[in-house]
Amino acid sequence: MSKMIKIFDTTLRDGEQSPGCSMNLKEKIEMARQLERMRVDIIEAGFAISSPGDFQSVKTIAETVKECKVASLARATKEDIDRAWEAVKNAEQPVIHTFIATSPIHMEYKLKMTPEEVYEQSVEMVKYAKKYCSDIEFSAEDATRSDPEFLAKLFDGVIRAGATTINIPDTVGYTVPDEFYEFLMKIKENCPALENVNMSVHCHNDLGLAVANSIVAIKAGANQIECTINGIGERAGNAAMEEIVMALKTRKDVLNADTRIVTTEIARASRLLTRITGVKVQPNKAIVGQNAFAHESGIHQHGVLQNKAPYEIMTPESVGLSVDNIVLGKHSGKHAFREKVKELGFEMSEKEIEEAFQKFKVIADKKKTVYDRDIEELISKEAMQVPKTFQVHSYVINCGNSITSTAVVNLTKDSKPVEEVARGDGPIDAAFKAIEKIVGVDIKLEDYQLNSVTEGMDALGDAVVKIRFNGKVYSGRGLSTDIIEASIHAYVNAVNKMYYDKRSEKEVN
Ligand code: KIV
Ligand code: ZN
Repeated sequence: MSKMIKIFDTTLRDGEQSPGCSMNLKEKIEMARQLERMRVDIIEAGFAISSPGDFQSVKTIAETVKECKVASLARATKEDIDRAWEAVKNAEQPVIHTFIATSPIHMEYKLKMTPEEVYEQSVEMVKYAKKYCSDIEFSAEDATRSDPEFLAKLFDGVIRAGATTINIPDTVGYTVPDEFYEFLMKIKENCPALENVNMSVHCHNDLGLAVANSIVAIKAGANQIECTINGIGERAGNAAMEEIVMALKTRKDVLNADTRIVTTEIARASRLLTRITGVKVQPNKAIVGQNAFAHESGIHQHGVLQNKAPYEIMTPESVGLSVDNIVLGKHSGKHAFREKVKELGFEMSEKEIEEAFQKFKVIADKKKTVYDRDIEELISKEAMQVPKTFQVHSYVINCGNSITSTAVVNLTKDSKPVEEVARGDGPIDAAFKAIEKIVGVDIKLEDYQLNSVTEGMDALGDAVVKIRFNGKVYSGRGLSTDIIEASIHAYVNAVNKMYYDKRSEKEVN
């Protein structure tokens, strides 16, 4: 029997802390729903005390998710723990995840505390958290640069105080597999109580070793791995969940461990995260990169065509790829659409289905074949829709190779029409400048990408626009068979997200 490894997903906490990956409440809920569909064991939904927005996201996710434990991060202080508990207390299975730094460099320069003080505070705070919640995870930040004997003593103390999971992070991605194995074995040797609780690791990828270190930790006795979808996270990121899960599945023969993750949901989770953050995965990224299952070279292609086995150690179907059924067309009715929505795992009210169906009809009219991925794009975009402060009414673009492009863009702002004209370096630049004039605040265009959702001449164009306002980046997407229309919608969508985020703070009017 394989040993079962718990998957602790921190996409919404450590992942979200990485530049350009911030998500709003609706996006976090959508991501949490997908993590639940994948059956991750624990969702770390955020760091409740860090901002009112984070608190609200943790609380809402705790109240939405039923099948996974929901955790909030908290420093080892009463204020943090109170706030974390307030956010997760309504979850079916709440977890408080408290941490303190344990390496000499962190204790001396960041905490300005002695090891004895760190020990006392940790034990006291685990006891404090335990009064609220039975499930307490304790993390020793920068563990891999800490003294293993000190860690063993500390872990013994916090286990006695009630910690149910001990997490050993490689916070700066510094360790290497053999060293990490020895380090964990040494801690275990000096802390027999570790046998009675969950032993977890949390590896960062600064040296590209996060997954290798996580796998070797299983050999050393870990039964929980902390990771993120697409490996997003601070700096070089965290261990990528899809890589760990598929390594365990594919090499069960040597690793003798498995997870409860529904692997066929992996590709969808990866796409959803990319759609939300606008951060694409590199094409050669293991498991979820565009080329991960592509066999381009002549030799490989020849081999694959005859029999896939020589080059395929796992199938694309096992991670949810190649399930591009042609599903619906312009003659499909609402019943078929509703059934498809259910089959794809989305929960929608009748009103939402009706709205999405009207949009589907517009696409189906323009496109011969509508794939699952088109529907998935359409629905998740609807589900994550923020209030539409601005809406696109109409636009006229004049462009050519011998004239300067001009755009007349007509939007509504809070239902009132507003129009602006602008010249630009090409039709999209002209349209963006006209929108910028309408919005009237100092926005910087950070990034613009255009891709197609599926293949073919009639594929949906998927535009991603990232704008920066007051130091924060907002990404918007637009979908249309017309790329200018997709781009305009993407820009307006990013502006609406900016308003959604900032309106309460009264930074824009
Ligand atoms: O990397 C780290 O040490 C962390 C802890 C807070 C678990 O993210
Ligand atoms: Zn981390």
